[in-house]
Amino acid sequence: MARPNATLHLFQKDIEDAEKAAIEAEQEKLRKAEEAAKKAEDAKIAKAEAAAKAAESGSTAPAPKSEGATSSVNWDAVPSRDITLFFPGTASIEWIHGREHGGKRAFTKGDRCIECHDSETMDMGEKIVTGEKLEESVIPGKRGSIPVTVQASYDADNLYMKFSWPEGSHAAIPFADGGKMDPANQVKLAMMFGSDDVEFADRSGCWGSCHDDVKNMPGEVDDATIKAYADASRLDTSGGITKYISESRTDIEYKGKRGAKLGGWDKLKSEDEIKAALAGGGFLDLIRYEVGTGKVEDGYLLDERKMSGGQGATFTSNLTDGIWTVEMTRKLNSDKAGDVSFDTDGVYNFGFAIHDDFSDSRFHHVSLGYRLGFDKDEEGIEINATKQ
Ligand code: HEC
Repeated sequence: MARPNATLHLFQKDIEDAEKAAIEAEQEKLRKAEEAAKKAEDAKIAKAEAAAKAAESGSTAPAPKSEGATSSVNWDAVPSRDITLFFPGTASIEWIHGREHGGKRAFTKGDRCIECHDSETMDMGEKIVTGEKLEESVIPGKRGSIPVTVQASYDADNLYMKFSWPEGSHAAIPFADGGKMDPANQVKLAMMFGSDDVEFADRSGCWGSCHDDVKNMPGEVDDATIKAYADASRLDTSGGITKYISESRTDIEYKGKRGAKLGGWDKLKSEDEIKAALAGGGFLDLIRYEVGTGKVEDGYLLDERKMSGGQGATFTSNLTDGIWTVEMTRKLNSDKAGDVSFDTDGVYNFGFAIHDDFSDSRFHHVSLGYRLGFDKDEEGIEINATKQ
């Protein structure tokens, strides 16, 4: 008979083995569930696309509800990329530079967010939306991520983009009247384009515009402080401090060492310097489409978020068999301030966001930064717009 000690040892080993097996079984289960979810999603998308096509070709399938113009793009011939948007919580560009972020050093040295995170945004969103990290105002039951299929195409005049994603179930927002922050819009789609001239745009898309001191973020500036700022009249502060980028500021505090306040909302450059940045491509072009009301806003980010001034874009949307499809048509060239003019030899930085389930403000799902090229199927370009 084994000595008591050895028996104990055996027991422990048994327990460890059993635990390991249980963990492995759990992981396998999770993996299978993810696979099944992905399959169901693919099937849903295929079904919706088939329905949309049938409707187009005049068969008896129900016609999708669409608004505005419809493009004549043959999407079947256009490659697609799956991008999973995730709930970012309060992960500002200052947080990215901070001690709590595992990728801080690599990012400051030039790595792109997607080099580390492209395939794990689903897990990141889950962690954040449940309040494990970076979110104090939890919305119970909200989904942490949205898998979106993105396609891009162009012709002599226009850039066309198509976004498809599964509708989610409703999760009431505890801190909004009736559980909805924007009852008129179940979804909104926003996108940003920027050249490499904009700091961090090549690595992180929109992230350089998301600061710790803007509205609803942890370092949100209060009204009294805003009023006390000598240059406050140069900003529209009626809704608090909006997004801005470093091209418009003399200084931005990224580290918060010795208690320094993060961000740089009150470090405006001179008006002439900001004008020069706008003329020289130092801005992020911003287009937003409210799927409920049909409203399109075309502005840009620089010293603040401006929601007008651009040439505009047209959108169509439909929800068929639980799949949202939104299509954008936008002129390649524009002479409007704050609009990117696309040169099809160039490469542009791109990020997009969906305000899902009647949400507003920072309670959106966002992409990391991706690069858009025109008939450039090469390393470092994730979204390749192909010519019609
Ligand atoms: C060199 C790799 C690297 C780069 C580049 C990088 N990160 Fe991270 N990031 C990490 C690591 C490591 C963690 C910690 C993961 C953990 O604790 O499980 C992390 C955590 C996060 C989290 C919290 C969620 C989580 O899973 O912990 C967010 C949000 C995030 N990163 C966003 C970004 C964004 C946005 C960028 C680009 C602006 C970026 N990261 C660039 C490595 C990177």
